[in-house]
Amino acid sequence: MAEKKHLLEVNHLKTSFFTDSGEVKAVNDVSYYVDEQEIVAVVGESGCGKSVTQMSVMQLIQSPPGKILGGEAILEGRDILKFRPDSKEMRAVRGEKISMIFQEPMTSLNPVITVGKQLTEVIRTHKKVSKKDAWQMGISALASVGIPEPEARMKNYPFEMSGGMRQRVMIAVAVACNSRLIVADEPTTALDVTTQAQVMELLLDVVDKMKTSLIVVTHNLGLVTRYADRIYVMYAGRIIESGTTEELMTKPCHPYTIGLLSAVPKLDADEQTHLTTIEGAPPDLANLPDVCAFAPRCPYADEECKNSTHPELRLADGHTHFAACHRKIRREET
Ligand SMILES: Nc1ncnc2c1ncn2[C@@H]1O[C@H](COP(=O)(O)OP(=O)(O)OP(=O)(O)O)[C@@H](O)[C@H]1O
Ligand SMILES: [Mg+2]
Repeated sequence: MAEKKHLLEVNHLKTSFFTDSGEVKAVNDVSYYVDEQEIVAVVGESGCGKSVTQMSVMQLIQSPPGKILGGEAILEGRDILKFRPDSKEMRAVRGEKISMIFQEPMTSLNPVITVGKQLTEVIRTHKKVSKKDAWQMGISALASVGIPEPEARMKNYPFEMSGGMRQRVMIAVAVACNSRLIVADEPTTALDVTTQAQVMELLLDVVDKMKTSLIVVTHNLGLVTRYADRIYVMYAGRIIESGTTEELMTKPCHPYTIGLLSAVPKLDADEQTHLTTIEGAPPDLANLPDVCAFAPRCPYADEECKNSTHPELRLADGHTHFAACHRKIRREET
């Protein structure tokens, strides 16, 4: 049987920021993939490189100070990192193939242009239609994401809408472009709890109806386990564990993943329940050790962890479960 082709496959991605305090290795040899109609989550603490990874693939890294130092991102058989950031091909990737939804939609919506004008511009960049038809398509896109009175809303400026509405507009852009992959970077963090649930539900509904793939970037491991097919756990610019949601939930292998899981509040927990958090702080990405970057915080770390080079990702069990941990390797050898 021929091996299934991934929709997007990223291999050995490396991105650094060259700052006064040195080279910040934000993305340090990261590989991952997403299949057709798959929902994949990327989780990890603040600053571990989740956003920079996604922004690198979209070639939206500000350079300088940022620079993609290596790696490839294969989309439909072509390495999109070979395209120039401002090329026609790369612009076609952004929007037509991959849509990005950010935590704060004001960063991607232009504050001085009406929602309708922005929507129709996006539509006309990707489809050869008249302004009038694009306007109608914009109205349908807004209606499809549950925005009431879409005709009137088209004439609004982004600041005239609530955060939840603006996020719906961003989802409408993905709908209008008929993107194959939606990358949602903390799409609901800036919203209140009720709106968070509604926007997430809408996003999952759109992904299901349009048969798109979805990458959700978040630090909330608890929430994604409800809908993600697979999960990548990042720590200090690397992926340290990956597998199906079930594998990670039932047999987490890396102590960092185990720590993240025990930091997830249980639904039935009362307010008195003490939440376990992982002690200590992530390392300085400008001064990364050659050894396992998690070792100083790891309750299981021993001399080998603190002395030998960073562990590689290895098959933990099955075909899809990988972890980068010396402890895991030792268990195999004994
Ligand atoms: N323009 C920049 N200049 C210097 N360093 C940067 C720049 N942008 C990002 N970084 C650094 O790259 C690292 C990874 O950042 P990134 O935004 O990817 O983290 P993240 O995992 O998305 O965190 P969060 O959960 O807070 O969004 C951080 O240490 C950050 O300080
Ligand atoms: Mg981020």
